[in-house]
Amino acid sequence: MKILAIESSCDETAAAVVENGRRIISSVVASQVEEHKLYGGVVPEIASRRHCESIVGVVDEAMLNAGCGYDDIEAIAVTYAPGLIGALLVGVNYAKGLSLATKLPVVPVHHLRSHIASNYLCHQQLEPPFLCLVVSGGHSHIVMVEDYTKMKIIGRTHDDAAGEAFDKAARAMGMPYPGGIHLDKIAQQGDENAFALPRPSVQGAPYDFSFSGLKTAVINLIHNASQKGEQLPVNDLSASFRRAVVDCLTDNVFKAAADLNVKTIAMAGGVSANSLLRSEMQYECDKRGIRLYMPDKCLCGDNAAMVGSQGYYEYISGNTADLSLNAYATMSIEKG
Ligand code: KG4
Ligand code: ZN
Repeated sequence: MKILAIESSCDETAAAVVENGRRIISSVVASQVEEHKLYGGVVPEIASRRHCESIVGVVDEAMLNAGCGYDDIEAIAVTYAPGLIGALLVGVNYAKGLSLATKLPVVPVHHLRSHIASNYLCHQQLEPPFLCLVVSGGHSHIVMVEDYTKMKIIGRTHDDAAGEAFDKAARAMGMPYPGGIHLDKIAQQGDENAFALPRPSVQGAPYDFSFSGLKTAVINLIHNASQKGEQLPVNDLSASFRRAVVDCLTDNVFKAAADLNVKTIAMAGGVSANSLLRSEMQYECDKRGIRLYMPDKCLCGDNAAMVGSQGYYEYISGNTADLSLNAYATMSIEKG
């Protein structure tokens, strides 16, 4: 069964054709990042406009690359929440228009659920239940994936998401948007013990995260140094910051894994491309005899193939929408 999938929740316009939730037949991603770089972050109005301009070409290219006509497609999956509302609406309305023209059903897909599903494309043997660390630019969750369409939030951030903290710290160090990937690279050449940074935790919520204090600690160090006319070594500061974020993430995941007696863990979202997070998670899982699954780096960021994967499982569980489908800027992964 082939599904056409569409993603437009942030600054990537993407379309893909995916078979049975597990095989990518085609995947096209048009990134707007170069334009948003000029402003140091995503400008929602610009994102919506670029999605409008790109979506027809991106979907046509995904269909062409897959060698498919609409007769070969069984359903149209689309990201409908959470994300930038104007951006989401472009994908949702395009999917509804296609549905009207082709009579194919629309399958609404939650963005974070689709990030989790990127693992199904890379690991054919992976099946729920498993615990997943979902770390993107907008969210940081520890999720128990009880079944393909049944999720329970075990831990969440109380303020910044991990990706957001990476981007803000990187920006304070003068790196271009999105800073997480640059910070990760520069950190390879730094000493992670050079700066003593906090590992904030949330009292009474052992699996929850709080990154804003850590981010502020870095920004304060930079401001204090610049007031004295000094410049801090960016490689050491990056390495110390990356280590602190990774410690917070891994500590809570393994606390949850031990308490819930979990033997399979997955990672998902843009930050799961972080090289230290990947190596630490692997090291800690090996030590504990836990199986670890991570998406290939090329599927960690936003793409439509993961929407096609989750869309398949939503579709076979009967989750389709009619033309009254709306987009939502916020929505819990549990409701999805
Ligand atoms: O999942 P994603 O592509 O978009 C959202 O759904 O938010 O995540 C984007 C986030 C950005 O904050 C970006 O800086 C971060 O993922 N990111 C990284 C790395 N690659 C992307 N953060 C740390 N290290 C990386 N290598
Ligand atoms: Zn995302």
